[in-house]
Amino acid sequence: MKKKLFIKTYGCQMNVYDSERMIDVMAMEGYEETDSPENADLVVLNTCHIREKAAEKVYSDIGRIRKIKDTKKKNGEEMVLAVGGCVAQAEGAEIMKRAPVVDMVFGPQTYHNLPKMVEKSISLKAKGEKSRILDTDLSVDEKFDQLSKKAVKKKPTAFLTIQEGCDKFCTYCVVPYTRGSEFSRKVDDVMKDAIKLAEAGVVEVTLLGQNVNAYHGTSADGEEWGLPELITKLAKIDGFERIRYTTSHPHDMTDDLINVHGTVKECMPYLHLPVQAGSDKVLKAMNRSHNTATYKKTIADLRKICPDLALSGDFIVGFPGETDEDFEQTMELVREVTYAQAYSFKFSSRPGTPAADMDSQVAEDVKSQRLTKLQALLKTQQMDFNKSVVGKTLSVLIENTGKTPGTAFGRSPYMQAVQVSIGDADFDQLKGKIVDVLIKEGGPFNIQGVLA
Ligand code: 5AD
Ligand code: SF4
Repeated sequence: MKKKLFIKTYGCQMNVYDSERMIDVMAMEGYEETDSPENADLVVLNTCHIREKAAEKVYSDIGRIRKIKDTKKKNGEEMVLAVGGCVAQAEGAEIMKRAPVVDMVFGPQTYHNLPKMVEKSISLKAKGEKSRILDTDLSVDEKFDQLSKKAVKKKPTAFLTIQEGCDKFCTYCVVPYTRGSEFSRKVDDVMKDAIKLAEAGVVEVTLLGQNVNAYHGTSADGEEWGLPELITKLAKIDGFERIRYTTSHPHDMTDDLINVHGTVKECMPYLHLPVQAGSDKVLKAMNRSHNTATYKKTIADLRKICPDLALSGDFIVGFPGETDEDFEQTMELVREVTYAQAYSFKFSSRPGTPAADMDSQVAEDVKSQRLTKLQALLKTQQMDFNKSVVGKTLSVLIENTGKTPGTAFGRSPYMQAVQVSIGDADFDQLKGKIVDVLIKEGGPFNIQGVLA
């Protein structure tokens, strides 16, 4: 019987991508994915450290898995419990101490070693020894070399990591510490992976990186390529009809990259470009290296090149020192710029980051009030955007079956989730195709339409 792997992913798309690669490497060792930890021989928690809530969730999940592990043990079955990802990187030793049930702790740059670590853990257990493994090495190079070997599953959309880590050191953020410094994969390596994805039927590829628009990979002839060159080349691959990239920093939104939104038709009219705050004083304290004027200029340039660009962003409220007036400037920026969708968070103090030690931390109830206000505004804007496409025909990439019979799920060019009535059409014929959909309704979270 095949061994079973249960993997839970927390946090960002980078983690989703990493989890998929872990499933790939363990499949080569004969492991099959399961959706319940009760059946699993190996449980991996791929964790996120970005905010306190996400990190604490891991410990409560470890408690839940411990019970399952104990029950299995009583039945004579072993389970290996592994904690990977950014909490593992940041608090590896603490996890080991706080949760003795955890067998392995490994950081985001080491999961290509997962098979070896699991094997070691199992053999230590078999010998009746306590198996505790900790690997939080931060060198990225080897990881990507090891991971490109696996064939890919047939599916219409895929992530492709082209860059990892960050050198920007925003004062609130753990990423430079958990993911390490900025690293760009070589152009040829990216192209090889991309061709494999296209051959597996991928129509829409999302290029990933913590700072994806800071990409600067080396080409075969030793030249340095930026994201604009890479997107232009990827767009020429047969089969790729849509290209997205995330997450970007306003600082690296160069004119060349902005132009790609006008010249490369595969580059989708959607951009996630976090601004974080609307007060220049707060942005400075965040060490964001952009201000509201440069950000607004970038947005104006983008909209000149790509008038229908749907904009997304991230916001933090209650950063240390943020006054009511600073917060009002964030609200004003949102009103002025307008977003198709956005993510917003209360500032969460992360140990080891400069903002954690800043004076004038904002009270929790003030943060909550500000977040409620901001989210209400963002929700109205998302609703307005979704309503603005009613009556239009949008091209929708069909990804999956819908919630009810006779419907399918897909995404518009603007990243909207679309519920499509397909009538008697055969879903299998539609899957992976880009079809015209007449939009009939727009709601707060999705839009609905019929095949045009
Ligand atoms: N507190 C709150 N939000 C944070 N983010 C990053 N660090 C923190 C923090 N300490 C948010 C930022 C970032 C997104 C991924 O998470 O908005 O863009
Ligand atoms: Fe974190 Fe700032 Fe780097 Fe984004 S740019 S990953 S927020 S340090």
